[in-house]
Amino acid sequence: PRPLRHRSLALAALLVPSLAIAASPSWLSANDPQIRELVGKMTLAEKVGQMTQPDLGAIKDFNDIKNLHLGSVLSGGGSDPKNGNTLADWSKIYQDCQNLALQTRLAIPLLYGIDAVHGHNNVLGAVIFPHNIGLGCTRNPDLVEKVSHITALEVRATGIQWAFAPCVTVPHDIRWGRTYEGFSEDPALVASLGAAAVRGLQGTDLSSKTAAVGCAKHFIGDGGTTYGTATQDGWLDQGDTRLDEATLRAIHMAGYPAAIKAGVATIMPSYSSWNGVKCSGSKYLLTDVLKNELGFEGFLISDYNAIDQLVAPAKDAAAVVSSNAAGQVTPADYKKCIEISINAGMDMVMVTDRYREFISSLQQLVTEGKVPVSRIDDAVTRILRVKFASGMLNGKTALAPDPELQKMFGSSEHRAIARQAVTESLVLLKNEKQLLPISKSTRHIHVAGRSADDLGIQCGGWTIDWQGKPGDITPGGTTILAAIRKSVSTETKVTFSKDGSEAAGADLGIVVVGEEPYAEMKGDRSELSLSKEDAEAVRSLKTAGLKVLVVVISGRPLILGDVADQADALVAAWLPGTEGQGVTDALFGTSPFTGKLSFSWPRSMAQIPLSNLKANEALFPLGFGLRF
Ligand code: BGC
Repeated sequence: PRPLRHRSLALAALLVPSLAIAASPSWLSANDPQIRELVGKMTLAEKVGQMTQPDLGAIKDFNDIKNLHLGSVLSGGGSDPKNGNTLADWSKIYQDCQNLALQTRLAIPLLYGIDAVHGHNNVLGAVIFPHNIGLGCTRNPDLVEKVSHITALEVRATGIQWAFAPCVTVPHDIRWGRTYEGFSEDPALVASLGAAAVRGLQGTDLSSKTAAVGCAKHFIGDGGTTYGTATQDGWLDQGDTRLDEATLRAIHMAGYPAAIKAGVATIMPSYSSWNGVKCSGSKYLLTDVLKNELGFEGFLISDYNAIDQLVAPAKDAAAVVSSNAAGQVTPADYKKCIEISINAGMDMVMVTDRYREFISSLQQLVTEGKVPVSRIDDAVTRILRVKFASGMLNGKTALAPDPELQKMFGSSEHRAIARQAVTESLVLLKNEKQLLPISKSTRHIHVAGRSADDLGIQCGGWTIDWQGKPGDITPGGTTILAAIRKSVSTETKVTFSKDGSEAAGADLGIVVVGEEPYAEMKGDRSELSLSKEDAEAVRSLKTAGLKVLVVVISGRPLILGDVADQADALVAAWLPGTEGQGVTDALFGTSPFTGKLSFSWPRSMAQIPLSNLKANEALFPLGFGLRF
């Protein structure tokens, strides 16, 4: 078992839906008369329980699910079932939790949520797709819809019904460690692919056994924070977006009307602030804009412990109480945080470990008249709308993992779509003397670079572990080196050295360079140059007299320095996931290069944030991509 994330630290035969969802903004409220009746029967404790989401790893006693009438459980990054991390382990923990919820007086099923952000990425053997930055380069909404549909199918194979995806952030500063979670710096592309992802996840009927509830995140301005304003680790993550309202809307709101129109059932407010006000506590943003103006009828789920930040922790130790069972320090006015957030319009709270305290405090706030019952009823109505629409409340969908879907989990059909997505996400940046396509009968290819034979590096963050990790992290995938070996003729000699040594005599060098896995908080970097080790590997192949192809595995454009000049050919492969053969399909000319950059590629750190970058001064501009 992996440890629970301590936020306080540093701080799918493809049933591909081809039709756009027939969702009008009112489809979610179709069952409101029945919901009203159900809400009318609920006690305050039952209502507050629906609004509470603990993390699996923080549940003190599993009977709490029953006794506290919990509406949801999440598995945050790294919060795996205790016994293991396989399809069977996940299916069992889902079923155990669901069975407890079904024992409550009203037997309202539990909505289990997970970060399935590039496939069902917490589970061993799941197909891992390219992260959104790569999908942005495909500029192919139909493909993104298929990718998300397979993700939904693999999620549902474990019984789980809710994916915290898509991320419709519009990153403007690639030093941010979550840049790769965004489809593009271009708001219009984010809107188009975000809507496609919602259609893929939710399908045309949310009660279908292959549909998962989606979650557009993080509202609003998560990708627009000002450098140096981070409230956690790093420089940008969870920081402050300092923009006037017109600019905020024009850039950072783009994904939301599109996702709502596509029927997205949940939205996650951002940790970040807008001009100093935390989004998770802003009544203007959550209620006036999202619910009233945009007509969002689903429910809002707060981010992981995000509401805890609404009132700054007291600096004076005496004013801080240590109140939860885990012994973590809780701000003295956690209750105030709850009041602000719920009154702002938050419907369900990712509490994640202090759920008992959350429940008693929210009940007190209602009794004291500080949170109106009407607000509680609105929140519960919205949560039950999603449960109704997803078929959980009227027996339309089985509340158990589906054996048919389990047979498709990690299947070759699913991997084939991932492989196509990888190929279409590649961007050919340079191809001198037509180095590419590589002949499959090249006599001797020397491969170098520490990212060439590492599945963990090519999957990136949010894979098996929250932050991801290098190495052989999951079964069933193909590294780029293995894919090269599979692509060439039997006569071709393929040799490999991480550092580029012993390459002399080869006809071609391929160096796979890149970044080590990271995710939120820890992925912020002030310097984005290629590692010395990677630059050295390229240099040593050039010194050996080889023509060199450089493949970049990264969650953002990197500062390539003289490697851009030294490389005879250059390919951006982003974080492609488990299907390395998608890379070699294009390198060896089985499929064409069609990808176009979803982000501008700067020459130097001085051109970051991207607002400092004039298109004609970029190393490669937004939309760039060679073809052959
Ligand atoms: C992230 C979200 C994620 C949530 C649950 C948060 O830290 O910001 O994107 O959905 O954790 O793991």
